[in-house]
Amino acid sequence: MKNDERPRNFKQDTLLTHVGRNPEANHGVVNPPVYHASTILSKDMAEWEAKRAAPPFTTIRYGLHGTPGTFALEELLARIEGGYRAMLMSSGLAAVTAPLQALLGAGDHCLMVDSAYGPARNFCDGILKKCGVETTYYDPLIGDGIAALMRPNTRVVYCESTGSLTFEIQDIPAIARVAHRHGAKVLMDNTWGTPYLFRSFEHGVDVSIHAATKYICGHSDVMLGAVITNEESFLPVRTAVAQIGHSAAPDDVFFALRGMRTLSVRLERHQKNAMQVARWLQAHPAVSRVLYPALPEDPGHEIWKRDFLGACGLFGFVLKPVAKEAVYAFIDALDLFGIGASWGGFESLIQPSYPQRTAQRWAAEGPLVRVHIGLEDPQDLIADLAQGLERLR
Ligand SMILES: Cc1ncc(COP(=O)(O)O)c(C=O)c1O
Repeated sequence: MKNDERPRNFKQDTLLTHVGRNPEANHGVVNPPVYHASTILSKDMAEWEAKRAAPPFTTIRYGLHGTPGTFALEELLARIEGGYRAMLMSSGLAAVTAPLQALLGAGDHCLMVDSAYGPARNFCDGILKKCGVETTYYDPLIGDGIAALMRPNTRVVYCESTGSLTFEIQDIPAIARVAHRHGAKVLMDNTWGTPYLFRSFEHGVDVSIHAATKYICGHSDVMLGAVITNEESFLPVRTAVAQIGHSAAPDDVFFALRGMRTLSVRLERHQKNAMQVARWLQAHPAVSRVLYPALPEDPGHEIWKRDFLGACGLFGFVLKPVAKEAVYAFIDALDLFGIGASWGGFESLIQPSYPQRTAQRWAAEGPLVRVHIGLEDPQDLIADLAQGLERLR
């Protein structure tokens, strides 16, 4: 994309390829160079003063607050999801906690989805409680029924769709309408949807949270968090992020920017492979049900189809009742599925899952398993699962 002001109306895949890089300013180099920096020098006092006088978070003045690479990735993330601006930090968990810290204080009330990523719950029950914030957990399928839980001091409604481990799709527009009527902000962990598959700001989200560690980086070798906000929420959240001292390492930012270039093609293949594996699992006699909203039989399918532009490769399945030892024997027998935390890389993963619930009991008929379907040939993954599931007997 040339450096000029001509009006442009490029589609998402074109933006993924061209936004956040500027070859003309970098000797023609395609990717922005990595700047390792703490001190950023000013050439004289006039420049020093100009940087101090500039609107906050718009200039490169100290490594903590971002290098050119940081600004480039932030620009691309915000553009793809349709937000105002983005900010980066060293992990997805930091991206979860920083906006909560920014927008809640003593005496406030937070509505937190019961299917949230476990450490998000821990933060509410630990640090936020110590700071005088009360949290109520709500059913992910509550929709506009959230109105009954709103209090005059409810400042934040926190969503995560799909839900961690259990993959419920939330009716975000319905929740957002109620939250906004009561003057509360809607925060959403959009890691599953990525900035590409769920354009959260079109559905009423104020602050979108990403573990960029997952699909944004996409290669299982980086820890990174990103928060994207609408205009109104930007300064309060960005200021808190600066006050806490969050920052992102330049090499990790570089990898994330590189990951973004192939995000849409990777996601397309993850979804295609995951659909094949999910359908095969649905038909397997040892499997009770598959939790993947891209399947027409999934209870969240209609809302997913309405709001999302696709699905990623992460889903769950419930086995028919069987002993824990048998589940472990099945997982241990697998050849291609790694046993490990995280997801969103190019490789397949598996783990048994134990949802934490307080609003409602998680009552499944059998053990729950989470899989991340990678970019391997799905026929090989299916054959591997077939031989592993033989061990259940
Ligand atoms: C939905 C979700 N949000 C946030 C995180 C935290 O990301 P990180 O591991 O980068 O701290 C994870 C990690 O697994 C996650 O699954």
